[in-house]
Amino acid sequence: MNAPVTTNNLDAFWMPFTANRQFKKNPRMFVGADRMHYTTSDGRQVLDGTAGLWCVNAGHNRPRIVEAIQKQAAELDYAPAFQMGHHKAFELASKLVQLTPPGLDHVMYTNSGSESVETALKTAIAYHRVKGDGSRFRLIGRERGYHGVNFGGISVGGIVPNRKMFGTLLTGVDHMRHTHDLARNAFTREVPEHGVELADDLERIVALHDASTIAAVIVEPVAGSTGVLLPPKGYLQKLRSICDKHGILLIFDEVITGFGRLGTPFAPDYFGVVPDIMITAKGLTNGVIPMGAVFVTNEIHDAFMNGPEHMIEFFHGYTYSGNPMACATALATLETYREEGLLTRGAELSSYWEDALHSLKGLPHVIDVRNIGLIGAIELEPIAGEPTKRAFAAFLDAYEKGLLIRTTGDIIALSPPLIIEKQEIDFIVDKLRDVLTSLN
Ligand SMILES: Cc1ncc(COP(=O)(O)O)c(C=O)c1O
Repeated sequence: MNAPVTTNNLDAFWMPFTANRQFKKNPRMFVGADRMHYTTSDGRQVLDGTAGLWCVNAGHNRPRIVEAIQKQAAELDYAPAFQMGHHKAFELASKLVQLTPPGLDHVMYTNSGSESVETALKTAIAYHRVKGDGSRFRLIGRERGYHGVNFGGISVGGIVPNRKMFGTLLTGVDHMRHTHDLARNAFTREVPEHGVELADDLERIVALHDASTIAAVIVEPVAGSTGVLLPPKGYLQKLRSICDKHGILLIFDEVITGFGRLGTPFAPDYFGVVPDIMITAKGLTNGVIPMGAVFVTNEIHDAFMNGPEHMIEFFHGYTYSGNPMACATALATLETYREEGLLTRGAELSSYWEDALHSLKGLPHVIDVRNIGLIGAIELEPIAGEPTKRAFAAFLDAYEKGLLIRTTGDIIALSPPLIIEKQEIDFIVDKLRDVLTSLN
């Protein structure tokens, strides 16, 4: 017989990205969720200020999605992903490429953001090779970038604790500087004025390695997990033109920014810069079933479509690529987004969101407030010698007060479901004001 779940038997599960010992002394358990709220095991309602982990864009327990999963499980639970197909995988692909910028008309499926990143990096290197340009193998990331936890992703990523434990990582990787500049840009609303020149770092790297060795540059259009760092005005445009000049592919990691987070369907719709490869996951299925998708240009796709027709063109894929359950969930998610206008709802709410967040300026320890679409960040002065402790205390206190936030370093990150109403934005900011006022 299974033992009942009590605080005494939490030992076996080694939790991801969690302070395990702290958690297990005082667990925070959810037992239900509906729309904007979780229900805790002690019967409280907690407002989801982070859309789960930046993924539940349509809110929780959405009827279309629930129904689609139930129906699909009874109809076709699994189909082999290699050399076989099922209708929903193709239907979803066709619908997705109508949403993405023109030219990004082909899509590969994965099961997570991390797998999408690996897929994109491998595709970039292989693309140059099939074109006869196999000397282009280098991958360029950026300091403070987050591209998931697999070896390619942590190699191009730039978050030190995510990298330093894991040996030599991938070779042939270099990093541009990050764009965070509190001295010049603190308390900017939306994209900061200063820092476009940081894109020239790519020219420096090209000068060092020679463009003929570089396959791709990967960036998050808005860096999320590192604590919400926005691209300076003109920065992404400049990266695009340097890539074009040198024949380097530009990869946008849109695992967070995709599917409406910026108030536009994807980052190119916001910034007017279109990458060669676009990485997504999270909001694709509203976070309900694991799934990711990687979009590539026609040029990249077509470069692989040669050789004998009985031959596999690209030796890559996963047992669960385009799993029927995931495809059904994604289709129901897209339908929910469409019916409720959620992919652009952030644009309608962003100025209210912005004013609400910036009203926290001047509270103790607050050294910056940042916002874009329905993303927000409040950066706190770290406690001397004890980095992360202040923000973690804020996280625990907010949870007790009925609000789920996310912290990274000493930064509070916010990304509520896109169905949020103005009074719920007020709730978030009122609770944060309480939390910040009483913080040591
Ligand atoms: C930009 C970015 N890329 C990749 C990932 C990794 O996604 P996953 O946790 O689904 O592997 C994340 C997760 O937060 C992310 O924010």
